[in-house]
Amino acid sequence: MRFERRLDSVVDMVGRTPLVRLRHVTRDLRGVKVYLKLEYMNPGGSVKDRPALQMMRDAIADGRLTRDKILIDSTSGNTGVAYAMLGAAAGIGVTLCLPANASVERQALLNAYGAEVVLTDPLEGTDGAIRRARELAADRTRYWYADQYNNPANPRAHMVTTAEEIWRQTSGRITHLVAGLGTTGTLMGTGRRLKELRPDVELVAVQPDGPFHGLEGMKHLATAIVPGIYDASVPDRTEVVATEDAEAMVRALAREAGLFVGWSTGAAVHAAAQVLAREGGARATVVVVAPDSGMRYLSERARLTGEET
Ligand SMILES: Cc1ncc(COP(=O)(O)O)c(C=O)c1O
Repeated sequence: MRFERRLDSVVDMVGRTPLVRLRHVTRDLRGVKVYLKLEYMNPGGSVKDRPALQMMRDAIADGRLTRDKILIDSTSGNTGVAYAMLGAAAGIGVTLCLPANASVERQALLNAYGAEVVLTDPLEGTDGAIRRARELAADRTRYWYADQYNNPANPRAHMVTTAEEIWRQTSGRITHLVAGLGTTGTLMGTGRRLKELRPDVELVAVQPDGPFHGLEGMKHLATAIVPGIYDASVPDRTEVVATEDAEAMVRALAREAGLFVGWSTGAAVHAAAQVLAREGGARATVVVVAPDSGMRYLSERARLTGEET
């Protein structure tokens, strides 16, 4: 366990996150175990520490990223926090483009780590932020464009870390992996490696039910710029979740399980419950990826309490 070791740097705290049993959604099902992979235990507070670290390591190793360059990317927040934290630790400057409606907690965190923030039109969502980052990144002598949506190091981080951890933590018993789609790196990387280890593992992708949703970090692929790293043949099925159902699940998990997760985790747990309800009593070991914590969204109090605004 990483907490028992003495570490050299914050970089060594990335990964090796816990898997925690969730009884809430499986109360009535015998032979079913559901676990949350608590990615908010990463030092930057989200799953994105893994791909950010892999992308930076690869680029430093082959000379694309040097100390005289600034790392630039578009991010709805979590990847930005990871870049900003790791950049600070490595002495590398970081510039981030994000929609102006990203939560105040995220923006404050980026400022705390000393990153430069470029806010883009909220009506254009993450796609607007992607377009702005591309424009700025055209200056290649100044910037290195990490490009998390198209960088193969993003899914690779999950192949070599997340998947191996889940495999060990379930003693190879995993039957279903449930993960939301944002850049799609988590599902592509973790899913591909788990399929190699166990071809009958079911890969469940989770998506919002429309282009205007409140599930920060997730993409509605039918109407968004499709990430270059996405391969539609990888997921075995896709579950669609409404923002209200995700919110209700976030509140239930906090109050009934003592686990305060972000909206996209609420969506993924809701999706897992949908799958299990359909499959009836079959034995299953389900792992749901929890990308971040509800702490990232505390300013959205009405959504946390269920009050009308
Ligand atoms: C907060 C957050 N970050 C990231 C992701 C998605 O991860 P990826 O970009 O690897 O697809 C999600 C997906 O549900 C998310 O909710």
